[in-house]
Amino acid sequence: MPVPTQPPHPPSREPTLGLRFPEGFVWGAATSAYQIEGAAAVDGRGPSVWDWFSHTPGKIRGGDTGDVAADHYHRYADDLDLIKDLGLHSYRFSVSWSRVVPNGRGPVNPKGLDFYKRLVDGLHDRGITPMLTLYHWDTPQTLHEAGGWENRDTAYRFAEYAAVVAEALGDAVPTWLTINEPKTVVQNGYLMGHHAPGFEDPSAAYIAAHHLMLAHGLAVQAIRPHLGPATRVGAALNLHPCYPADASTEAIAATHELDGFENRLYLDPIFRGSYPQDTLDAIDQFSPMVSNIKDGDLKVIASPVDLLAIQYYTPYYVTGTGETIVRHPVTMASWQQNYPQGMTDILLRVKKDYGDIPLTITENGLPCPDRRSDDGAVDDANRVEFLRSHLAAVHSALEQGVKLESFHVWSLMDNFEWNSGYDERWGLVFIDYETQERVLKRSAHWYQSVIATNGI
Ligand code: NOJ
Repeated sequence: MPVPTQPPHPPSREPTLGLRFPEGFVWGAATSAYQIEGAAAVDGRGPSVWDWFSHTPGKIRGGDTGDVAADHYHRYADDLDLIKDLGLHSYRFSVSWSRVVPNGRGPVNPKGLDFYKRLVDGLHDRGITPMLTLYHWDTPQTLHEAGGWENRDTAYRFAEYAAVVAEALGDAVPTWLTINEPKTVVQNGYLMGHHAPGFEDPSAAYIAAHHLMLAHGLAVQAIRPHLGPATRVGAALNLHPCYPADASTEAIAATHELDGFENRLYLDPIFRGSYPQDTLDAIDQFSPMVSNIKDGDLKVIASPVDLLAIQYYTPYYVTGTGETIVRHPVTMASWQQNYPQGMTDILLRVKKDYGDIPLTITENGLPCPDRRSDDGAVDDANRVEFLRSHLAAVHSALEQGVKLESFHVWSLMDNFEWNSGYDERWGLVFIDYETQERVLKRSAHWYQSVIATNGI
């Protein structure tokens, strides 16, 4: 038995809504490799595009990098104890591609693979179910230099790496997610330039979009032979409900157009085997994406999946001229409006338009400028309120028949929030980056009682 790292928590004094979740509902939390692991040059890890990008002056708030982050690579055993103390049923993490295949092609790094074997074993020892993401944005730097996601070859290298991880971990991991938020790579990385690789190139962005989707399909095919029949595979998509800002035909049309770029471009190829034609036509004005789609690609992308992982953070409101406007309180992340109903809406919409596929929520959460008070506690009441209201929205979708199995808070712990560095704290667990001390926030204690009572 692991030694608990924190004293047992007192019964939660938070108000409850009297809502119970279905028996067997799975409660979890999520992280990703570059955001928490640190150990950037340890045990043979190769550099990734995020090492290069974060070390490029001016790219990251405060000049932060993921070199050390929450030092999870060295502290994983204590972190697993924390996960157990919280009572989580499921822990979603990602594998660092360049830890496993340091050059993106060629020799596998056994020490890198060993880390994830120890992590998965450690989860099982503690009765926690692992959920693994193969790609959470950290492309090996060598592959980036060879053209990154603009280069079709990257999709094949990804499938090779995926097979290596599947061969090593196979049945020990019951749920495999291929690509995390392909849209964020396209929009933030290739279109707006504030994520790696930092391009502002609409033409490249949608070539990259197709290759990311191809990588998803190739990886599904590559890992299947290494997994047992009960093992499930899917992609993790961030979906944004889009609403017209007014009832005009122009606003309705512009909303449909934005929905193509935000949702259908990623959902349709997986579940319908085609890209939405209206979105392709729009992309054709500025990117040769279509000429990069080869015969048979869409069949690969539509390789059967067993579930869809949804990440919900914010809605969009669209005017008749196609601008997006703010309708709800904006959080510390300037792009996030706090709108719980959007969670219900997106879950119902996926069911209506794409069928009754099993769903999991792999991310939902709130950034706060959390600080420790004099008694050492972290009082993130806003996060409790945010999560409670979003869980009520999840509950409403469940009552309306959505086949949703699980909910994962983003994030288990504070971490490197990409171009925003360490200022935006998203964790249930506070990280003191000076000492690497872990402190359960008020939201962590609240979430413990949510899990213990299976309700809010
Ligand atoms: C989605 C991403 O998957 C995750 O890496 C990020 O930290 C959260 N959104 C919050 O922005």
